[in-house]
Amino acid sequence: MKVSRLFTMMVIATVFGVAVWQSWYELVRLDWIKGPTRAAWQLPDRVIAELDLKPGAVVADLGAGEGYFTFLLSKAVGRNGRVYAVDVEDRIVGNLEMRVQVKDAINVGVIHGELADPRLPDNTMDLVFLCNTYHHIESRSVYFKRLKQDLKKGGRVAVIDMRDDVTGLGSLFVDEGHWTSWADLLGEMEIAGYTLEQRFDFLPVQNFAIFRAND
Ligand SMILES: C[S@@+](CC[C@H](N)C(=O)[O-])C[C@H]1O[C@@H](n2cnc3c(N)ncnc32)[C@H](O)[C@@H]1O
Repeated sequence: MKVSRLFTMMVIATVFGVAVWQSWYELVRLDWIKGPTRAAWQLPDRVIAELDLKPGAVVADLGAGEGYFTFLLSKAVGRNGRVYAVDVEDRIVGNLEMRVQVKDAINVGVIHGELADPRLPDNTMDLVFLCNTYHHIESRSVYFKRLKQDLKKGGRVAVIDMRDDVTGLGSLFVDEGHWTSWADLLGEMEIAGYTLEQRFDFLPVQNFAIFRAND
């Protein structure tokens, strides 16, 4: 076999091998993150308990996605409470509406938000909750400053977002760039007019903090 032919075959085999490896890696990783094992690192029951929601509370799940936390929040606030599940993507909003119907979650309302405004009712929220959404939001200090008008007086904002300093195996769960550093989170929320109330360290790959709106 000619050397040039052998070389060409080796290049093709290498490119093919890398493509297969990358697809497999992405598949496994996405499956871990979105699949049933999420509960092992997301610890949703502990998260909900730490939010300390009273029955009847009004909560927004901002960037609700598939509704991972929406229905847990719905259970936590009870039938006299209300959950606004907000997202900005048409397809996601459609899926959420379907899930709400299927689960007969009568205390959940789905809102098609805008990038710079979740379109929540004014002066209504006891808590606005975000999981893995904070880093998607642009001009965050401006966004959260405006959001204060949707909160009741002294309302809270709970943020869970991927950390930027995860190393080792934990980094498998974190998509490059889809994170917020602790310094950015704290600084931006302070500029927006919030005070850090609680910071939790039980989540292995995410920051989790609760802020209260300043008067
Ligand atoms: C990574 S997903 C997180 C979904 C869900 N919170 C969870 O933990 O499974 C981020 C979601 O935020 C939504 N999103 C992005 N920018 C947004 C914005 N400005 N306002 C509301 N939702 C937004 C996306 O459409 C997406 O569904």
